[in-house]
Amino acid sequence: MNREDFNMLNKDIIYLDNGATSLKPYILSESISDYYNNYSANAHRGDYDISLKVDMMYENTRELVKNFIGAEDSSQIVFTNNVTDSLNKIVFGYFKNYLKKGDEVLITKAEHASNVLPWFELSEDIGIKVNYIKLDEHLKVTIDNVKQAITPNTKVISLAHITNVVGDIRPIKEIIEIAHKNNIKVVVDGAQSVPHMHVDVTDLDADFLAFSAHKMCGPTGLGVLYIKKDLINDIKPIILGGGMNASFEFDGSREYKEMPYLLEAGTPNIADVIGFGSVLNYLSKIGMKKIEEYERDLRNYAIEKFKKIPNIIIYNETSESSIITFNIKDIFAQDLAIYLNKYNICVRAGNHCAKILKDELGIKNTCRISFYFYNTKEEIDKLTDVLSNPNIKDEIII
Ligand code: ALA
Repeated sequence: MNREDFNMLNKDIIYLDNGATSLKPYILSESISDYYNNYSANAHRGDYDISLKVDMMYENTRELVKNFIGAEDSSQIVFTNNVTDSLNKIVFGYFKNYLKKGDEVLITKAEHASNVLPWFELSEDIGIKVNYIKLDEHLKVTIDNVKQAITPNTKVISLAHITNVVGDIRPIKEIIEIAHKNNIKVVVDGAQSVPHMHVDVTDLDADFLAFSAHKMCGPTGLGVLYIKKDLINDIKPIILGGGMNASFEFDGSREYKEMPYLLEAGTPNIADVIGFGSVLNYLSKIGMKKIEEYERDLRNYAIEKFKKIPNIIIYNETSESSIITFNIKDIFAQDLAIYLNKYNICVRAGNHCAKILKDELGIKNTCRISFYFYNTKEEIDKLTDVLSNPNIKDEIII
């Protein structure tokens, strides 16, 4: 649906790498150009009309984000660079002070690097322990396995809502409920969920949520960090400078601003925040429930067609999201991606930044397709035709 809104879809490509980044509708570049051409002043620093307009547009996006994810207050919404930046701010701005030696954090081996490496660093810094929730035979997280992994020392569970390789939708609401009963905080990596389904942080009762604009038709270099209301005064800035301070003196005395400005040091990514606002309106108009249903239908269609492809190995047949991960027997994933490129089909190959998943998956490199609402069944037909070529192996080896 809505294909006419995307210039990239006029280019005779089949774009199936939305898990990496989505295509951008015209409305995004129009609103960004409007800012740069017509009112490109700084934010939160001027007393003239165009700077006040910038403030209004910038804060309007914060309000839109708040409504989009069902937060209570816009002070809970911080603009960051991306999910990685958001997660680092959570780990080093909050958990570094909250946790103490011997405390445990639970993750899984299916997490993206950005939800693994900060915890490894913190473990070295302050002596916390990183433990793994066992994945089941479909590489999913079950409630039983969560319960089994919790110990009296578990203080944090940090999980992707939808993983970027397995594409399973985790039962995050139930996990949060169990966690809170055990006095455990929960960090939700929403990189692959917020763009594809209705996520309501208040309903989930999440402590932290991170997501990126560029995977949901928005600009690159812009992320969001959501913080639960009763925790917003406990997070410390890890980047210090202009914009986040109220005053400072030569003797080192200083006062910092309140949230969310406390975590937005320096001139922010104004143009992209404004552009993201237009995209949030665009997505809301389509409706996240409609997007979710449409993508589920595409996924089911693709899985049925994939199962008929000779020599295919599907790693996540039972997952529910728009991510399908596969290989063709005896063909290296990257070679297959390069082969598909000859047909203008864009897919991702490799380990997809989930580098410890290989222990569970049994293989390091896979091909991944990931849909968005503008993909079609005709595109899936073209992909499956190419993958079904009986001479595919010979053609790739040549
Ligand atoms: N994290 C993004 C992906 O999964 C880049 O492709």
